[in-house]
Amino acid sequence: MTARLFANIGELTTNDRTLGDESSLGRLNNAAIVVDEHRVLWVGATLDSPDADELIDVDGAAVVPGFVDSHTHLVFFGERSAEFEARMSGERYDGGGILATVAATRRATSDELRSATATRARDLRASGVTTMEIKSGYELTLEGEERLVEIAGEFSDEVTFLGAHTVPDEFAHDREGYVDFVAGQMMTRCAPHARWADVFCDTGAFNVDEARHVLLRARDSGLGLRLHANQLGDTGGVGLAVELGCASVDHCTHVSDSDLDALSSCDTVATLLPGAEFSTRSPYPSGRRFLDAGVTVALATDCNPGTSYVTNMSLIIALAVREMGMTADEALWAVTRGGATALRRDDIGHLGVGARADFSILDAPRAAHLAYRPGGDVVHQVFRATR
Ligand code: NIG
Ligand code: FE
Repeated sequence: MTARLFANIGELTTNDRTLGDESSLGRLNNAAIVVDEHRVLWVGATLDSPDADELIDVDGAAVVPGFVDSHTHLVFFGERSAEFEARMSGERYDGGGILATVAATRRATSDELRSATATRARDLRASGVTTMEIKSGYELTLEGEERLVEIAGEFSDEVTFLGAHTVPDEFAHDREGYVDFVAGQMMTRCAPHARWADVFCDTGAFNVDEARHVLLRARDSGLGLRLHANQLGDTGGVGLAVELGCASVDHCTHVSDSDLDALSSCDTVATLLPGAEFSTRSPYPSGRRFLDAGVTVALATDCNPGTSYVTNMSLIIALAVREMGMTADEALWAVTRGGATALRRDDIGHLGVGARADFSILDAPRAAHLAYRPGGDVVHQVFRATR
């Protein structure tokens, strides 16, 4: 085990309230941190630093916790740029394009899928993401969904079964049959490879009763619950997520005050995905409204070929600050501790003593540069603990 001391950190964000300024960001200036290959061993002022095996002088740079991307659809094949272009000229997104990606993904070999996923995972990591959730949902057959959760598992422990992404063509005239198939055989096959289950509960996708049926079976199979809801309309998905105690309800583009009330008094995190509003040219949800209502907010990329082909977390931070009324600090918390909370993890998303040694050194003196210099390479070096 090698103890490495990173010293002369201009601004260290720990997200640990017991440290530094005791805010939710747990900020320290002129700080230092000692880590080994796995964990954070010590945090404090550079002047008080203990001895270590190695010294790295970061020369005034800011250090932030590794980003936790709690919502991605990373395993897919093909691309839908023509659909994006049509939307930029005024067409609406209705979820229909998912089937084009299903067709392309079904045709791909496992090696092709692996290598396409590896490229996206590499880009996300380079942008500072040290933990990523990955969903299935682009094959919608028994063997296909099993293949996707297995491939996802090669890249992350945070694997989500999303058989209820849309109704595939073979079941076009039997949606009830498809919902039963997902909740039954497919769940049984995929659950051993997953930690979570999710449903696309929205206008034109699955309704609240169908989503409840799938998620209750998921719970019986030992999976944690998450939900895509209220992206395209207010169909009651947020209420369902609260009712079932989902770890996270994601999108939340259309929410009522009573949804916010319900979210503020439970453990369900609202995960906002501004890459989707960007790429579908839709109005952004107000992050400010969620925060002022006392809701725990996470931000994630939603990386997928239809609504958000985004592999850079800094863009998400910049959008949240520029378009959603969040401060740079709130956005940073939402992509770190917020993402970790959405995955019910307390070993990541912060840099308190004992946390996983996942962090980035920025090419900037303050973390605010992540929002202030959009499109710039602000994340300089990413460190990820050996698992
Ligand atoms: O999170 N909304 C549902 N699923 C994805 C989009 C999938 C697609 O269009 O391929 C999302 O936005
Ligand atoms: Fe999604």
